[in-house]
Amino acid sequence: MNILVCGGAGFIGSTFVRQRLHEHGDEVTVLDKLTYAGREQNFHDFADDPAFRFVHGAIEDPEAVASALDGLDGLDGLDGLDGVDGGNGGVRARASGPVEAIVNFAAETHVDRSIAEPDAFVKTHALGTYVLLEAARERDLRYVQVSTDEVYGSIEVGTFTESSPLQPSSPYSATKTGADLLVQSYFHTYGLPATIVRGSNNYGPYQYPEKLIPLMVLNALHGDALPVYGDGQQVRNWIHSTDFARAIGHVLAHGAPGEVYNAGGPDEQPNIDVVHRIIALTGASEDQIEHVTDRPGHDRRYSLSSEKVRALGWEPSVRFEDGLAETVTWYRENAWWWEPIRSGDYRSYYERQYGKALS
Ligand SMILES: NC(=O)c1ccc[n+]([C@@H]2O[C@H](COP(=O)([O-])OP(=O)(O)OC[C@H]3O[C@@H](n4cnc5c(N)ncnc54)[C@H](O)[C@@H]3O)[C@@H](O)[C@H]2O)c1
Repeated sequence: MNILVCGGAGFIGSTFVRQRLHEHGDEVTVLDKLTYAGREQNFHDFADDPAFRFVHGAIEDPEAVASALDGLDGLDGLDGLDGVDGGNGGVRARASGPVEAIVNFAAETHVDRSIAEPDAFVKTHALGTYVLLEAARERDLRYVQVSTDEVYGSIEVGTFTESSPLQPSSPYSATKTGADLLVQSYFHTYGLPATIVRGSNNYGPYQYPEKLIPLMVLNALHGDALPVYGDGQQVRNWIHSTDFARAIGHVLAHGAPGEVYNAGGPDEQPNIDVVHRIIALTGASEDQIEHVTDRPGHDRRYSLSSEKVRALGWEPSVRFEDGLAETVTWYRENAWWWEPIRSGDYRSYYERQYGKALS
């Protein structure tokens, strides 16, 4: 297939691109704004693949979207990723055939940042999704929206199915919900062949260290405090990013237009247990744990039923215990990836968020 992957420079998007290039032989164009979370380093092992093309631009910019979908004649390919600059002209090479599908990962993804500064969340999720849907409608493309279990809100017992009510509780999840509803409206109103995949909490290599698991792994390895929100009893349904990326590919290939598919991981864990496991895997000390004021409106538990996507033939293959150990090893062995983050703007974000400096 020839696919436009929006947000493909991020954690899960780049995992998806890697699978499509290496396991499916697809042609992939990435459109990405390269926010603090979008990184050219995530292309390191496929940047030179002739089937890969990168356009630097925002999904809310119709010209950037058109460039990414239609290709730009007369532009030189870039020498290397260092040459990628702003605007919508950062084109590496031309895709050979027309794009057949858009898969949209592009998002602001950190709940804490959505509480502090919600504006980018509204712009990217509402306006950005609208621009992509219009582009898909004009060109008759398949469309997959990557969404989250957070649109259902919190559940004390039981598990969410695709028909559970949508009760988002943060600006992040509320704007993701709005995007999902817009996608569904394009199916109902215009017949756009669109599907939605809602994932549970992802972990794995290439995840920006503001998120729980890489934050704890890197702080543990550096002897920094391990800041645990409240009592740490918030339960999350963990899915490895390679499993989630495969679920999205599965829905792209086999999903029915207009349908929503949940893709949850095989294991649930309270956050505090995740931290204890990371301490054991890194040789850090329990004394590094520091309970900090809980996030406002923090959801207590997420849990997803994935029966519908399992019926299409997908199932998660990585158990949390194994995936977490591999993830810790990856962070240990790939300091080239996280060192520039930990020595850059992330430090001031961390200080604002947790009121103390990293070592
Ligand atoms: N991480 C999780 O646990 C999780 C779980 C379920 C669903 N999701 C969803 O999966 C998707 C990817 O999440 P992630 O964890 O890889 O996020 P991420 O923050 O690592 O990456 C997001 C990417 O989107 C890009 N981006 C942001 N705004 C953009 C814009 N306006 N135009 C173009 N590009 C833009 C960023 O530069 C970055 O490359 C998101 O839609 C998220 O809601 C994530």
